[in-house]
Amino acid sequence: MKSEIKKIIKLFKDKKGALISILQEVQKKYGYLSSEAISALAEELKISENEIYGVATFYTQFKFTKPGNHQVKVCLGTACHVRGGHGIMETVERQLNIKHGETTKDSQFSLERVACMGCCALAPVMVVDNDIFGKITSTKVKNILNDYNRNGGKKQ
Ligand code: FES
Repeated sequence: MKSEIKKIIKLFKDKKGALISILQEVQKKYGYLSSEAISALAEELKISENEIYGVATFYTQFKFTKPGNHQVKVCLGTACHVRGGHGIMETVERQLNIKHGETTKDSQFSLERVACMGCCALAPVMVVDNDIFGKITSTKVKNILNDYNRNGGKKQ
């Protein structure tokens, strides 16, 4: 991993504000910012891990846990919030037995909250990978997640 990290750092050498671009590149390559990657970055950039975490945690785009095979996103933007988005989030969290920002033990699903998916007319909205599920209910959540599980993680 260290040599890959070195290569990425080289790409942004001498560029102002390069840390964000470096973190984006690392996440693009590995899918998330692992503690090993942060530690390698700190060593190479000669800054503390805390400094890197301080920057990275400021931006919601960065993930610190390995993403699951399927990314579940529950919208908690205004329209979805008003139409029960929080209840949907609770149902998903119960069903997957994780909190948002986490990945299931079997690495099948990871769960995120998002601010708006741009399809407010369909609120409340849940997205699994690239599939949008609108006017979602708790019953629908269970069926959808079961479908992904039953089919080896693939939607029918
Ligand atoms: S607020 Fe949920 S899609 Fe816009």
